[in-house]
Amino acid sequence: MLKIPVMSNQLLANKRGIIFGALDEQSIAWHVAEKCVSQGAKITLTNAPVALRMGKIMELSEKLHAELIGADATSVEDLENLLTEILGGKIDFILHSIGMSLNVRKGKHYTDTNYDFMQKTFDISAISFHKLMQSALKLDAIADGGSILALTYIAAQRVFPDYGEMAESKALLESFARSFGYHFGTLKKVRVNTISQSPTWTTAGSGVKGFKEFYDYADKMSPLGNASADACGDYCVAMFSDLTKMVTMQNLYHDGGFSTMGMNPAVLNI
Ligand SMILES: NC(=O)c1ccc[n+]([C@@H]2O[C@H](COP(=O)([O-])OP(=O)(O)OC[C@H]3O[C@@H](n4cnc5c(N)ncnc54)[C@H](O)[C@@H]3O)[C@@H](O)[C@H]2O)c1
Repeated sequence: MLKIPVMSNQLLANKRGIIFGALDEQSIAWHVAEKCVSQGAKITLTNAPVALRMGKIMELSEKLHAELIGADATSVEDLENLLTEILGGKIDFILHSIGMSLNVRKGKHYTDTNYDFMQKTFDISAISFHKLMQSALKLDAIADGGSILALTYIAAQRVFPDYGEMAESKALLESFARSFGYHFGTLKKVRVNTISQSPTWTTAGSGVKGFKEFYDYADKMSPLGNASADACGDYCVAMFSDLTKMVTMQNLYHDGGFSTMGMNPAVLNI
C-alpha cells in the first residue's frame, strides 16, 4: 500500500532553538524537541550533567541530529557557556522545561518544609528561568522577534495540596515571565510566555503523591481531556513560530479546558 508521508508545515524553517529538560521519552521537552525538528528547526539540547549521564538524552540527540551541551540551569557560568558555545548565529527560541522539588521528592509535608530544600527548589524550578533570560539578554543571544517559553502548572493559581512548594515555584516562574517579558519585549521585541500544561506522565509529574488519581480527575474534568506531551509540542511550535509574534507576558493554559471548569458531572462517577 502507498504510504503517504505526514506533511510538515515547516513553521520553524531557518530557526534555531535551545530545548532544556528532555530526560527520557516521557519528558514533555522530548516531544517538543521532536516537533520542532519536524517543523524544520535546528535545535540544541541541554540538561544537567547528571541527566546527561543517567537519562536518554544522548539517544534523542542522535535521532534528531541535534547538538547536546550539558548545563546546570542554576549556574550562571554554565548558562553563559552554553549560550556562548552555540553562538555564531542568534537563537530564535528557547524552551525552559525544568522542575524539581526537593521537599516533594523527599516526602516532606508542606507544613514541615525544609527551607534549604525550598531554596534549592526555587533555584532549580524558577530562578533558573531568570538566570537564563538575564544571561541571554547580556550576551545578546536572542534574535529580534524571538520567543521564550517555560512550562508551568495551574498549582500557581489554585491549591493542589500534594504539589508542595512547586506551587510557589510556578507562581514565581510565571511572574518572571511577565516581568522579564516587559524588558525583553521593549529592548528586543522578544516574546516571553508560560504554558500551563495538564498533568502529564513524566518523571517529574509522577513524583507527586497521588498522581494517578489527580491525573484521572483532571482528565474527566476537562471537556477535551488532558493535553498530552505531544500536543504540548504542537502548541510550543505555534508559540515559537512567526504566527504568534504579538503574544507575550501571558500564562497560556494548555489543559483541555480544565482551568475554566467549575463542575463536570463526569467526575461524580469516579
Ligand atoms: N508532568 C506534569 O504533570 C507537568 C504538568 C505541568 C507542567 N510541568 C512542567 O513541565 C516541565 C518539564 O517536566 P516533565 O514533566 O517533562 O518532567 P521531566 O522530569 O522529564 O523533566 C524535568 C527536567 O528538569 C531537568 N532538571 C532538573 N534539575 C536541573 C538543573 N539543575 N539544570 C538543568 N535541568 C534540570 C531534569 O533533568 C529533567 O530533564 C517542568 O517545569 C514541570 O514542572 C509538568
